[in-house]
Amino acid sequence: MKLGVVDFLDERFDARRVAKEFAEHRVPDHVNWLYCFGGITFLCFIIQAITGVLLAFYYQPTTDAAYRSILMIMDDMPFGVMLRSLHAWTANLMILMVTLHMLRVFFHGAYRPPRELNWVTGVLLFFMTVTFGFSGYLLPMNQLSFWATKVGSEIAGGLPLVGHYIQAFLLGGEKISDATLSRFYAIHVIILPITLTMLLVAHFLMVRKQGIADPL
Ligand code: HEM
Repeated sequence: MKLGVVDFLDERFDARRVAKEFAEHRVPDHVNWLYCFGGITFLCFIIQAITGVLLAFYYQPTTDAAYRSILMIMDDMPFGVMLRSLHAWTANLMILMVTLHMLRVFFHGAYRPPRELNWVTGVLLFFMTVTFGFSGYLLPMNQLSFWATKVGSEIAGGLPLVGHYIQAFLLGGEKISDATLSRFYAIHVIILPITLTMLLVAHFLMVRKQGIADPL
C-alpha cells in the first residue's frame, strides 16, 4: 500500500482535521487592518529567532572578542551585514508593532472580561520585548552599547530599596565586565526566548478560545 506524506501525518496526528480547522477558521466581519499588529509582532519574533540563531553561530560573548566577532560578521561573513541589519531593524519594528497592538487592544476595549488575563499576559510580553531590546544592545560591546547599558543599569539602581540589588544582579558586580556580558547574553538567548514563547502559547490559546472581541 502506497502512503503519501499527508496520509502518513494524518494517520498519526490527525493532520487533515487540524489543518482544515486552522485554514477555515473565520474572523469576524468587523476585523480590519488594525488587527494585524499582533500578527506582525509575531512575524517579527520569528525573524528575530531565525536571524538570532544564525548570528549566534559567529558571535563570541566576551568583552575581548565580542566587538571583533561583530566586525567579522559584517566584513567576512557572506550576507553578514544583511543578517545583522535584519536582526537590528526587526528588533525596532517588533517594539513599534507590539506598542501599536497594545494601543489597538486598549482603544477597542478588548481588555475587558473575559480577556483580562490575556491583557496581563500581554503586558508581560510587552516588557519582555523591551527587555529583549535592552539586553541585545550590550552584545556588540561598542561605545553605544557600553554607555546605554551603564545608563540603563544606573536607572535600575536608582529604584528605592531594591535598586542596588537589581543593578548588582544585572552587572554581575560593580561595573560592566565579562560577567555582565554573560548575563545579558543568557537573558537574551535563553531566558527571554523560552519565557516569551511560553507566554505566546498562552496568549494565542486564549485568543483562540475567546475569539476576537466585538467592537465597543
Ligand atoms: C510579543 C508580543 C505579542 C504578540 C506576538 C501578540 C499577538 C497577538 C495576536 C496575533 C492576537 C490576535 C489578533 C489581534 O488582535 O491582533 C492578539 C490578541 C490580543 N492581544 Fe496580543 N500580542 C502580543 C502582545 C500583547 C500586548 C502587549 C497586549 C496588551 C497589553 C496584548 C493583548 C492582547 C489582547 C487583549 C488580545 C485579544 C484582542 C481581541 O480579542 O480583540 N498582546 N495578540
